[in-house]
Parts: sequence; structure tokens; C-alpha cells
Amino acid sequence: SRSISLAVIPGDGIGPEVVAQGLKVLTAVLPQDAKLETKEYDLGAKRWHATGDLLTDEDTAALKTHDAILLGAIGDPSVPSGVLERGLLLKLRFLFDHYVNLRPSRLLPNTATPLAGDPSIDFVVVREGTEGPYTGNGGSLRTGTPAEVATEVSVNTAYGVERVVRDAYERAKARPRKKLTLVHKTNVLVFAGKLWKDTFDRVGKEYPEVTTDYMHVDAATIYMVNDPARFDVIVTDNLFGDIITDLAAAVSGGIGLAASGNVNPTRDFPSMFEPVHGSAPDIAGTGKADPAATIRSVALLLEHLGFTAEAARIEEAVTADVTARDGSPRTTSEIGDAIAARVAG
Ligand code: IPM
Ligand code: MN
Repeated sequence: SRSISLAVIPGDGIGPEVVAQGLKVLTAVLPQDAKLETKEYDLGAKRWHATGDLLTDEDTAALKTHDAILLGAIGDPSVPSGVLERGLLLKLRFLFDHYVNLRPSRLLPNTATPLAGDPSIDFVVVREGTEGPYTGNGGSLRTGTPAEVATEVSVNTAYGVERVVRDAYERAKARPRKKLTLVHKTNVLVFAGKLWKDTFDRVGKEYPEVTTDYMHVDAATIYMVNDPARFDVIVTDNLFGDIITDLAAAVSGGIGLAASGNVNPTRDFPSMFEPVHGSAPDIAGTGKADPAATIRSVALLLEHLGFTAEAARIEEAVTADVTARDGSPRTTSEIGDAIAARVAG
């Protein structure tokens, strides 16, 4: 029988509320003979205020022993900007080599989109997760003076680019449309752009069944609004991926529905699944948060662990739930109950 050892990081703000619904649905969808063991980790603003700890060596050693991590949200207005993001969220992505940041977008029926007409959206962004300008490779000179100079260097290695590009080709090959678009800015970022484009073209020779396309990132934002149907799989660097996936969420039902996986495809480390949204401290505790993004992140988690049928059942249940929404108010936990009932039934 199959088993899952899951680390749970509820985190800050609405994190604990949405994670509770994710676990509810996970429990409901798993077959009787599958064993689920969860261990909660107290990480985030509260812990930092109480102890000054962000992520200790003991934390990472313990986290490493699990099959996967489910994370709610990290971030609180009482903590200076960047402290939790760098010291916790990004640190986990780097430590556990989450080089594939997977962010699917699918426009569900009965879902609000700011796009005109009847757009069709079903694409996945493969965002590089361990390099680019996120590496902290920068500094400032003459800090705080009118002559200050600040740099934030984007790091792109042949190794890092090739492995994420390869992963994106594999994902494109497995989808019906088999199309892969590289999004970058090769007209200005000439060195990194050349490495990405050359790698994309070279690896592409091994995937003759995959149709390829290249787009500058600024143009990609136009197409994502005017003609999102042209995208199937997108591969891009860490920062471009951060930006276009917020846009992707906004055009496909909002961040209340957007799921993500920080994936270590080699399985040397646990992958970590989290909603794209943040901790939303303004609505924490009000029961207004939509748990769908977290529940869909659980589906990505199951898919990653090989529970393909269960993952599909969750995606179907969320689709049915969203399709049936008529605007009558439901709490976070009522939505969780409804989706859990659908996956069980
Ligand atoms: C995201 C977030 C993070 C990122 C922040 C909170 C560090 O915006 O997951 O998209 O930039 O990756
Ligand atoms: Mn982001």
C-alpha cells in the first residue's frame, strides 16, 4: 500500500485556514489503504517573534525526511519586508533545490476573468526556481548617499538552465498540444538570453514532437491578455516567471484559484506545494479566504507523488465546485467541506 509522509507548514495569516482545508480534502481523497502521516512545523512570523528563528538546521533536517511539504503562506506586516521571504520561503526553495516552479493556469467555467470574449486558458508556466536575480548576488556602493550604486546580478548557469528547460520539454511532450514557449528578453539581456535560447534550441532537437516558440517577456504579457490560447507550456527564468504567473492568475480566476509546486524533479529533496497567494493578513480569521488554491496545490502534490487518479479527482471536484458557485457566501471551511464531499463521493 502507498503512504505519504507530509510536512505541513501552515505559516502566517490565512495560511493555517487554507491548509486545514487542503488536508481535509487530502484525507478525503486518499484510498483506505493509503497511509497519511502529517507533521506540523511552526515556521513564520510567530516563531520569528518568539525565538528569532527563521529556519534552523534542525528544521531543515527534519523537513528533509518527508515525502513532500504543504505550505500555506508566509508573511506578516509585523516583520520587515524580505526577512521571512528570504530567510524561509526562498531558503527552502534553494536548500531543497526546487528548480522547477510549476504554475498551471486553467480558466474554469463560471469563473471571472477580466479578459474580453470567451477566452480559452490552459497552460502551465515552468518557472526556474533556484537562479536568476533571486540568488542574492548583489550589493550596493556608497549606500544611502546620492551617489549610491546598487546591483542585483542575475545568475544563469548552463547546468541550471538546461535542467529546467529539459523538464519543460518533458512536460510539453506529455500534453496533448505539445507546445513549448520560451519567454525571455534576449534583445536586452544578451548574455543570459543567449544561454537560454541556445539551450532551448539545442535541447529541443531531442524533442522533435514538441512545437517551439520564443517570445520576449513584454510581448508575452500582451498575448496572455489578448490571445492566451496560444500558450501550452511556458519556460522562463525566476523573475520573469514570478511576474507572468501573477498575470496568469489574474486572467484565469484570480489568485484565489492559483496553485503552485516548488518541485525537485530528481527527488533528492521533498518538493513543496503552496498556493500562489500570500498570507492576506487583512482577511485572516474571517473565514473569507478561498481554499481552492491550496486544495489545487494538494492535487499537484499528489500528482508529483504518483497519486495521479486522486490528483485528477481533486481537480474535477474543484472545477465542479467553482462551476456551481452562485455568489452565495460560504466560509473557507464550508468550501473545504463541499470539495471534500465531492472527492469522497
Ligand atoms: C511567489 C512570491 C515569492 C517570489 C516572494 C514572496 C519571495 O511572490 O511565490 O511568487 O517572488 O517567488
Ligand atoms: Mn510572486
